[in-house]
Amino acid sequence: MKISKPTILVIVGISGDLSKRKLLPATDEIFRAGELPEKFKVIGVTRRDIAMQGVELYKMDLEILEEYKKLARHLDSVEKDWGTPAQRLFYLSVPPQVSQSIVRQLGQSGLAKVPDTKLLLEKPFGFDLQSAKDLIDDINKYFTEEQVYRIDHYLAKEMTQNLIIFRQSNSLFKRTWNKDFIERIEIVASEQIGIEGRATFYEQTGALRDLVQSHLLQLAALTLMKIPPSVSNGVVDSNGGADNSWWKNIPDERLRALEQLHLLSEEKIIDCVKRGQYKNYREEVKNPQSTVETFVSLQLESGSPDWQGVPITLTTGKALDKKMTEIRIFYKKAEHHESNQLTLRIQPKEGIEICLWTKKPGYDRTLEKHPLNFSYEDHYASLPEAYERVLVDAMHSDHSLFTSSGEVLRSWEIIAPIQEFWKKGGGSDLTFY
Ligand code: BG6
Repeated sequence: MKISKPTILVIVGISGDLSKRKLLPATDEIFRAGELPEKFKVIGVTRRDIAMQGVELYKMDLEILEEYKKLARHLDSVEKDWGTPAQRLFYLSVPPQVSQSIVRQLGQSGLAKVPDTKLLLEKPFGFDLQSAKDLIDDINKYFTEEQVYRIDHYLAKEMTQNLIIFRQSNSLFKRTWNKDFIERIEIVASEQIGIEGRATFYEQTGALRDLVQSHLLQLAALTLMKIPPSVSNGVVDSNGGADNSWWKNIPDERLRALEQLHLLSEEKIIDCVKRGQYKNYREEVKNPQSTVETFVSLQLESGSPDWQGVPITLTTGKALDKKMTEIRIFYKKAEHHESNQLTLRIQPKEGIEICLWTKKPGYDRTLEKHPLNFSYEDHYASLPEAYERVLVDAMHSDHSLFTSSGEVLRSWEIIAPIQEFWKKGGGSDLTFY
């Protein structure tokens, strides 16, 4: 559905890697798809002189309040030229230490209060429960929750959205999506890359904060949440448009799922959490004592009556043999029946696979396991990038694929016992790979 509102997208941190690799290509794609409003402008805020196509560069010092007031006047003049007010999206593509002060100055300069102003933020949202609370309180002083769009790009991946639709629309799986039929769940995100030169960031972060607190807990929430009831199938309404009212319930359901999720044993962390570090990590970050984990695997369970007793394992690591994110659902083995495994491939080769038991051809009556496979690539030339969805949804004021402050806080709460344990432990449980 084409965006109709005139829109100014202000990217703060336009010279950064994310803008070049994801945001600007995403706006190009949305334009090519014919979805951008007629009146649309990208303003790239920067301190440096850089050349960039299709973007109006706006040089300013982000530490000076007066400069924000000048920016406000500039945005007013764009709207005046257009002869209409526009929605303004401030996309902060900057390190977390900087974003807090920018938020404050957007507030103090009056920019936050201009009608139809939105704030798009990248993770990390804090580094533990307390810092996340402080950050949220700080933002709440200037912006309402409705104005804030916290990005978790995993939620916007095509296959992640399909997980919701798959659960909603296939009665075979819908009816068996619970502890009576499912034995355990594994969510794995393995990466081949290391820390890619981000030594300072990674030394303060580690795999638990970087991937588990955000992406993996969100995937777990989507796997475990109750699917909101709906009269339609949740994809299109009777007018052929997106059924947004149904999607609007998704963040609340994710939050409820997170509220019920906890570590398998908060007392014996050592039994349910394993961590590791890849071999030349310490040299890479120039810290021979570093105990920062580049791999972590943890076991959780849900207190929901639908899921009691089903172990949920989250695993992620860098410098592993391949790049792959999957949700694996292991069905129970019943008497005289084999178990089945359903795999939702988030990336790469996005798709769904279920293993079936069949008779091996021949005179013997032996069983064989074969996959039944759906791959998007067999049907579509390409899939939209997550950042296209992020921008389109923010322009449509659709929060369903963004993380609420409640979800952020609950995710930190879930991993807090691990952070505490590691702080005290001194790293003796760290293994090297
Ligand atoms: C980011 C993490 O959020 O996600 C990175 O900070 C990680 O460390 C990246 O590499 C993975 O994203 P994707 O989409 O490539 O799986």
